[in-house]
Amino acid sequence: MRSRVIQPAKLANCLPLVPLIDETRTRSRLAVTTAAQPATTHPTTDAGAGVPAVRLEGLVKHFGNDAAGRRVAGATGAPVSDVIVAVAGIDLDIRDGEFFSMLGPSGSGKTTTLRMIAGFELPTAGRILLHGEDVTNRPPFDRDVNTVFQDYALFPHMTVGDNVAYGLVVRKVPKAERQARVADALRMVRLEGYERRRPGQLSGGQRQRVALARALVNRPRVLLLDEPLGALDLKLREEMQIELKSIQQAVRITFIYVTHDQQEALTMSDRLAVFNRGRIEQVGTPADVYERPATRFVAGFVGTSNLLAGETARAIIGSDRTYTVRPEKIRLTDPDAAPGPDEASATGTIREVVYLGPDTRYIVALDAGGELVVTQQNLATSSMEALSAKGRAVRLTWKRQHNLPVGDG
Ligand SMILES: Nc1ncnc2c1ncn2[C@@H]1O[C@H](COP(=O)(O)OP(=O)(O)OP(=O)(O)O)[C@@H](O)[C@H]1O
Ligand SMILES: [Mg+2]
Repeated sequence: MRSRVIQPAKLANCLPLVPLIDETRTRSRLAVTTAAQPATTHPTTDAGAGVPAVRLEGLVKHFGNDAAGRRVAGATGAPVSDVIVAVAGIDLDIRDGEFFSMLGPSGSGKTTTLRMIAGFELPTAGRILLHGEDVTNRPPFDRDVNTVFQDYALFPHMTVGDNVAYGLVVRKVPKAERQARVADALRMVRLEGYERRRPGQLSGGQRQRVALARALVNRPRVLLLDEPLGALDLKLREEMQIELKSIQQAVRITFIYVTHDQQEALTMSDRLAVFNRGRIEQVGTPADVYERPATRFVAGFVGTSNLLAGETARAIIGSDRTYTVRPEKIRLTDPDAAPGPDEASATGTIREVVYLGPDTRYIVALDAGGELVVTQQNLATSSMEALSAKGRAVRLTWKRQHNLPVGDG
């Protein structure tokens, strides 16, 4: 049995703009990172209704090293032992107009998958369809997608207005239309009046908005966002989460959002996919994934795992399967309090207390073996009272319906 607390710590994971340009130079010029197809409308229903915005079929990506030590695709003859399997076979449909998140730990293949959808990486195997069309071998500029990178990749010497207009200039959109669209995009991200500033004169959150405006101005049908809020502090990140979601609802563009922050994915997504080691372990709504985790991994990554397995599960639940119980579903009572007929229950000792302000987290060593994490709202409990509970004998009680069976994935 194992418990796990997820920290929303961020790891820098996006390649900066310049390497992206180098990589794609043979296929296109600078424009590839910002240009999209000409303006399109986004009806909620059309002849293609029901066709997914993005379909991934058997997608695989290997990386390897060639003789010169350069990073190259594994298909180029690198010894098999050198091959890194970044994406190990993904099948996925993302619906038109959906806010879809790819959630998973560092190295699980999220960015690689996103870069294949954008066209910055070619798959080793499998197909990518955008709105029903096979784009697997098309260069980035020939796909109706835009990408917002974690480091924003703004041009520091250009004004905000010029940064946002860049993709339109490259596509030779007439000046009057360009100005109107830039103004529109800046209004959307609440940056009217900032046209003449340079990125260095903006806050982190404002730079993030410029990066978003620069992608939205191209009116892509699909917007790819790789940890776009990773560089912001917690407070601003939470504000931007709400804002991004409302912008997405206003423009109805399909957003594909990469994050390793489970809270972020649960807050923002219509649906999410949980990645682990280059595969998807579960796809569903936030409630599906949180309340009915398909595997041990999902139970632990999206929340605190609180697994009951083996002897412990047999003693407490009377079953040999593996279960998870969410910490907020468990009540702490006196050891001699009697559980109700529809309740599961276990006795133990409070091993650790973590005071979190609104809540307190108790780590309880169970008499039947293993540990459970319990969170309780501090309704009438002071921090002193909470902290003094350490070492106390307790009974844990929860409704049997909150025993969630999980697979072994
Ligand atoms: N160009 C490359 N060459 C070799 N290996 C790579 C390359 N890009 C990614 N990888 C490897 O592929 C795996 C998946 O990487 P990827 O960047 O997709 O992970 P991620 O889920 O985005 O992680 P993070 O949350 O840290 O950004 C990792 O093991 C990574 O080291
Ligand atoms: Mg990444």
